[in-house]
Amino acid sequence: MMAVGVGLTLALSACGANSAAPSAAPDAAPVAEDAPRVGVILPETESSARWEGFDKPLLEEAMAAAGLDADVQNAQGDEQRFSTLADSFIASGVDVLVIAAITSELGADVAAKAQAQGIPTIDYDRLSLGGTSDYYVSFDNVQVGSLQGQGLAEALSGQQGAEVIEIRGAPTDNNATLFYEGALTQLQPLYDSGALVQVASQAIEDWDNQIGGTTFEQLLTSNGGQVGGVLAANDGLAGAIITVLQKYGLNGEVPVTGQDATPDGLQAILRGDQYMTVYKPIREEAEATAQLAAALAADDTAAADALATGTVTDTEGNREVKSVLLTPQLITRDNVADVVADGFAQASEICVPETQAACTELGIS
Ligand code: BGC
Repeated sequence: MMAVGVGLTLALSACGANSAAPSAAPDAAPVAEDAPRVGVILPETESSARWEGFDKPLLEEAMAAAGLDADVQNAQGDEQRFSTLADSFIASGVDVLVIAAITSELGADVAAKAQAQGIPTIDYDRLSLGGTSDYYVSFDNVQVGSLQGQGLAEALSGQQGAEVIEIRGAPTDNNATLFYEGALTQLQPLYDSGALVQVASQAIEDWDNQIGGTTFEQLLTSNGGQVGGVLAANDGLAGAIITVLQKYGLNGEVPVTGQDATPDGLQAILRGDQYMTVYKPIREEAEATAQLAAALAADDTAAADALATGTVTDTEGNREVKSVLLTPQLITRDNVADVVADGFAQASEICVPETQAACTELGIS
């Protein structure tokens, strides 16, 4: 593979208002001029605080540490922008393309275009069903959902017949399907026995947090304002749901699940408004991706294969995709401190006046 050296920054700044962010973390190690080039496209900013808050800086850091010249962009939920970014990266001859696609269809389309130019692709966090990416790096997403189900079941244990409303992720994100599959491994037996009652279940287009909130409010009011617990697929949706619960004076009484261990999610847990979140150490995800990208840029398939720890099934493409699948962790009030100890959250951002008492009690400082 060769880098043709076209000025990508120029190509990208041509696409307008959302101009390119600085391409490397300020404290990243200097990268050699002839370093292999990696294009990274993240899907959204609004669906979760993770993409700009964690993935972008951690990918920049990990790529630089692996000796790669990476340019991390975000499509901001715009499929057209995602395609344009991909076309620019491909035209400029990046050595590897890393994509967290907005939808499987879009990801498959981009991977096919890259492949036609001999550019290997890595599916980052989200698997594009029916795609052709050479490798996939993510967490065990069924396990993520299972932890959500486990958390909700634990929070509602002893409340016979508690009514549950489920607010799921985007129907076009394979992860959302896996999260829900995992959640049901815990919840379905409880629904079957009548220990819990499933009142409603709704997928939210684009993981749009606001729509998640309004959808939840409609489901709540059509259930006569009654709810015992909420399965929310991530912290962003949980935050919108908690705002609705606050409006009805129900926050703190109704356990809500989450995911991503975002600063807002952790604060909500410390306030008692959210029961749990799932901590996914994104640093490990970024580092595994950088190592894979370095192996692929060096055309070293054996090294790349050695990094892959398993495979996942692409149910649409009927193929096994070589994967690195990392382990998620269940976080409740009792172990929020673990996320701080791991350096993922800072005490200064989660210990605010409303949570200070909890921080003090839990030894978070
Ligand atoms: C990611 C989650 C994230 C969600 C919305 C999923 O694909 O795995 O971490 O909360 O997308 O951005």
